Amino acid sequence: MRFMVNTAISSCRRVWINARPATIDPAVAAPYGELAEHAIGVCDGKIAAIVPIGELPENLGAAEVIDARGAWITPGLVDCHTHLVYGGNRSREIEQRRSGVSYEEIARQGGGILSTVHATRAMSESQLLDASLPRLTALADEGVTTVEIKSGYGLTTADELKMLRVARRMAEYMPINVSTTLLAAHALPPEFQGRADDYISLVCDEIIPAATAEGLADAVDVFCERIAFSPAQCERVFEAAQRHGLPVKGHVEQLSNLGGARLAARFAALSVDHLEYLSAADVQALARSGTAAVLLPGAFYFLGETQKPPVAELRAAGVPMAVSTDLNPGTSPLASLRLMLNMACTLFGLTPEEALVGATRAAAQALGMADRIGTLTVGRQADFLVWDIGHPSELVCEFGVPRLRQRVFRGS
Ligand code: NIG
Ligand code: FE
Repeated sequence: MRFMVNTAISSCRRVWINARPATIDPAVAAPYGELAEHAIGVCDGKIAAIVPIGELPENLGAAEVIDARGAWITPGLVDCHTHLVYGGNRSREIEQRRSGVSYEEIARQGGGILSTVHATRAMSESQLLDASLPRLTALADEGVTTVEIKSGYGLTTADELKMLRVARRMAEYMPINVSTTLLAAHALPPEFQGRADDYISLVCDEIIPAATAEGLADAVDVFCERIAFSPAQCERVFEAAQRHGLPVKGHVEQLSNLGGARLAARFAALSVDHLEYLSAADVQALARSGTAAVLLPGAFYFLGETQKPPVAELRAAGVPMAVSTDLNPGTSPLASLRLMLNMACTLFGLTPEEALVGATRAAAQALGMADRIGTLTVGRQADFLVWDIGHPSELVCEFGVPRLRQRVFRGS
């Protein structure tokens, strides 16, 4: 095979035979990285071999053999942007919004993110875990094998660390990879009213160092927006993250263009997310810095936005486009990555293949995990999905019908 060292398939622990892999591997030229009938061998939780069915030895040794009966196999889905650890809910805000109050106005009145902050601060770690597990279960049941979870509803050192600990602990309850992101610069906490720079100092001098010391954060995020933090404030957060060896990402150009994407590109951000107001010039900056663009059609849909992210420009510039749920109580209370694939096509004009790449390979890039997950490639973690479908485009087109036959996490 052209991939990498294919371990002798007969020494694998498990082998899926008669599979039709949609590898999503760019080294495979066919759409979706499709391979004709192949066998996938798994060893030590990793993909150890991908071989054409005709080259399969008679004797598969001690391997457990699973007959996929011609089924499509895709990489496990990667949800690279969620805020799924939180307390309470914000369903009453929909009533305010229907009576004409905007998301931004609700936030300015002290509702929005801050109302979730009050509810989250009031919960213990185990209460927060109980409240959040059903949301993670919903994602996992649909085929998500890697999820990113942000803090950002604590906004004190203790409460931000509490959220990150809960996020980390979730991986003990479910077979899933959890990547954690510190988003202390999400909103100005009420006790810092009128003192945003002082809060940013707390984030830089106390919260980031504390999260690093406990090994709780894999990345640092900011919300660069009129109702959140300025580019200059976000830059201070990025500098602090850099000093602590943490990669950065940003909620940018969601409601207006403050230049957050350009700033993030200067820090070689893993990703910039939302991007409805991203300019053409900034697309070039992302292409140069190798930053992934994370599209969040659920938030666009739920807020009833009309300005769309510049998908054609991102595509032309070759910027990896990821698709994610943004699962959160205020702008995207939608625990379905499959629904986002559909919306990425219907609302943003992605092709079904781009959408599926967006929830696998590109999402892995957005997490800095592209060398471990996101494609069916020898050497990657054996996280994959066996589907009862006739073609991968069905995963994007159809919604609500459970087509997942088998969810494999680290080979099990
Ligand atoms: O990604 N934009 C900022 N943060 C979240 C919303 C958080 C909330 O409203 O609770 C988002 O849309
Ligand atoms: Fe978000």
